Amino acid sequence: MTENKKFYISTPLYYPSDKLHIGHAYCTVSSDAIARYKRHTGYDVYFLTGSDDHGQKIERMAKQKDLTPKQYVDNIVDTFKDLWKRLNISNDGFVRTSDDYHVAAVKKIFKKLYDQGDIYKASYQGHYCTPCESFWLERQLVNGCCPDCGRPVELVEEESYYLRLSKYAPQLIEHIRQHPEFIQPVSRANEMLNNFLLPGLEDLCVSRTSCKWGIPVDFDEKHTIYVWVDALSNYITKLGYTSDNTELFDKYWPADLHVVGKEIVRFHTIIWPIILLALGLPLPKQVFGHGWLVLDGGKMSKSKGNVVDPIKLIDRYGCDAIRYFLLRDVPFGTGADGVFSNEALITKINSDLANDLGNLLSRTVSMIEKYFSGIIPQNNTPEPEDDALIALAQELPAEVEEFMESYRMSEALQAIWKLIGACNKYIDVTAPWILAKSEASLPRLGTVLYNLAECLRIVGTLLQPFMPSTAPLIFEQLGIEECDLTNITKLGVFGKLPVGTPVKKGNALFPRIDVKKELEELEASVQTAPAAEEKPEKAEKAEKAAKPEKAEEPAVSLIEYDDFAKIDLRLAKVLACEEVPKSKKLLNFTLQVGEETRTVLSGIKEYYSPEEMIGKTVVLVANLKPRKMCGIESNGMILCASDEGDVHLSALTTMSDMASGLKVR
Ligand code: ME8
Repeated sequence: MTENKKFYISTPLYYPSDKLHIGHAYCTVSSDAIARYKRHTGYDVYFLTGSDDHGQKIERMAKQKDLTPKQYVDNIVDTFKDLWKRLNISNDGFVRTSDDYHVAAVKKIFKKLYDQGDIYKASYQGHYCTPCESFWLERQLVNGCCPDCGRPVELVEEESYYLRLSKYAPQLIEHIRQHPEFIQPVSRANEMLNNFLLPGLEDLCVSRTSCKWGIPVDFDEKHTIYVWVDALSNYITKLGYTSDNTELFDKYWPADLHVVGKEIVRFHTIIWPIILLALGLPLPKQVFGHGWLVLDGGKMSKSKGNVVDPIKLIDRYGCDAIRYFLLRDVPFGTGADGVFSNEALITKINSDLANDLGNLLSRTVSMIEKYFSGIIPQNNTPEPEDDALIALAQELPAEVEEFMESYRMSEALQAIWKLIGACNKYIDVTAPWILAKSEASLPRLGTVLYNLAECLRIVGTLLQPFMPSTAPLIFEQLGIEECDLTNITKLGVFGKLPVGTPVKKGNALFPRIDVKKELEELEASVQTAPAAEEKPEKAEKAEKAAKPEKAEEPAVSLIEYDDFAKIDLRLAKVLACEEVPKSKKLLNFTLQVGEETRTVLSGIKEYYSPEEMIGKTVVLVANLKPRKMCGIESNGMILCASDEGDVHLSALTTMSDMASGLKVR
C-alpha cells in the first residue's frame, strides 16, 4: 500500500426514519461496493456513513411518539446500524450529528465563518399574524389586518444569520468549469450551473429560531444552526477537524468521493463547497449523484403488494441477493433510476444467482467429485474451443477495473456474468458427460473441468467487493483459501489454480424460489402487516375525517368542458425548494415549466421537507393569477390530494418520468 493510494468515501447521513425501505440501502450498498473494490485493489480506504440526527422533522416525529428527540433518534439509529451489519457494510466510521465532537466542531466552524464575516446577522421586519403563522408586508395588509383571515397583525422583527453564498459563487463556478470530474454524472454539473449558479445565488439563511433540536449558535443561543450546515460538516468533523487530533483529517481530506442521491446534489455541490472555500479547505474531488430506486415510477411505499422493508428481504433471501439486485439493477454510473418490485428481485435471484452462478459452481464441483475424486484435474489437452473462454476470463479483470473507475457497478457485474454465461455455454458445447463415457477422452474432460474451476476462481475473486459473503463460499467449494489466488490485483494470468487442489461440494449458493408461491406469500404479508403507527392526535383526526358529520357528499355542480379547458394544468419539475422562514405552512418552489422557470409557494411544509420535493414532477395550475404571500409572489398552484381535515396529503405526480411543461388534460 503506498502513501498516495488513499481513498476517502462517504454516504450521505440518513435521517433517522422509522420507515426504513430498500431505497435507503441502495446508496450505502453502492458505496460499500466501491469502498471494498478500492481496498481490494490496494487503497487505504476510509468509508464514512452516519445519521443526521437534528432538525424540525425529527423534533416533530419525536413529539408524535411522546419521546425526546434524542430518545427517538437513539432507537432508530440502532436499527440503521443493524441494517448496515446485515448488509455487510464495511464502514470505518459512523458519525451522528448529535455526537459531542461533531457539535463542538460545528459550533467552531459557524463561529469562524461569523468572525471572518462570511456569516452575518440580518433582520427581517414584517407584520405577523399569529393564528396563520404568516408574515405580511405593509402593502399586503387589508385594512391593517391579515389578508388571509382578517385578524389583527403584530409588527415584529426577527433576526437570522446568513451565509454569503453570493461572495463565493464565482470561485465555485470557476472550480466546476476547471474540474469536470467534480460533479458526476456530468448532466448534474450542467443542472447546477444552469439552474442555480449562473442565474445568481442568494445568501442562505443558516440559523433557525423555530427549531430547538439542533446545534445552538454558541454566541447567540436562541438560534440553532441550519441542519444542512450541521450535517454537511460531518465529512470533516468525523476526521477530527478543529479537534486536538487531526490525524485522520490530515491523512484523508479532501474526500475522494461523496456519494449522494440526486436530490441532494445541490447541497453537496453548492452549499458544502462554499463552506469549504470560506474555511480555506480543499474541495472534495468528486460528488456523485445517483438515481433512485423507485416502485414503478413512484416513491417507495408498501402499495402494490411490495415488501420494501430491507430487513425482511435480507431475512428471506440473504444479504448478497439484495446487494446483487441493487448493484445490478440500478445503473449507478449513469445516475438513472432503477425500478424495484418483489417480482423483479425474485426473478433476478432465480435467473442470475440460482441458475447462472449457483448451477455453474454446483455442476463444476459435482463433476470434479464424480469424475476426478474431488481433485482439480490436469489441464494439458487444450483445444481451440477453449480459447474464447480463456480470453474472456483473462480480459475480465481489466474490464471490471475500467467500469469501476467510473463506478459502473452494474456494468462490472454484467461483464462478470458474461463470463459465467460463457462457462455455462462451454459446458453445453464440450458436453463433459459424453467425454466421461470414454477412457480416452478423460484428459480432455480434465481440461474442461479445470477451465471451469479456474473461471470460477476468477469470478469469485472479482465478486468479493459486490457479494462479500458469497465469494468465500465459492472459494470454499473450490478448495482455495483467501491468498494470492483471491487477490484482484493478481488476476489476469489464466491457469493459476493449482492442479491437485481438493474441492468440496457445499450447499446451493442460492436455492431456487417458486416465484408464484413466493409472491403470494409476500403479498399476504404486506396486506396483513399492521398499518404504520400514527400519532394519537393524528389518528383521532383521521377518525373524524372518516366519519363526516354529514353523510352526503357535498354537492358539486357540473361544468362544461370549456370551463375545465380554462385551467392550464402543466407538469412542472421541482428545481429547488426551501422553507419560507416566516411561515409554518409554506414551501417556496422553483419550478421548471418547459422553457420557463417560476416561483410557486405551496402550503405543504407540514407534509414534505424541501429536500424530498427536489427533483419531483408536480402538477401545476399554471394560469392562476399571481398572489403574494409572506412577501413572495407565487405564480401558480401545486395540486395535491388530501382527505378531510388534511390528515393525509399527497402532491400529485406522474406514473413515469415526463418532461416538464407538458399539458395535463
Ligand atoms: O437527504 N432510492 O437524508 P435522507 C435511492 N440527511 N436512494 C434513496 C432512496 C431511494 N428510494 N430514498 C432515499 C438526507 N435515498 C440528508 C443527507 S448528508 C450531509 C445529509 C437516499 O435519509 C437519498 O437520495 O433523506 C439520500 O442520498 C440518502 O438516501 C439519505 O436520504
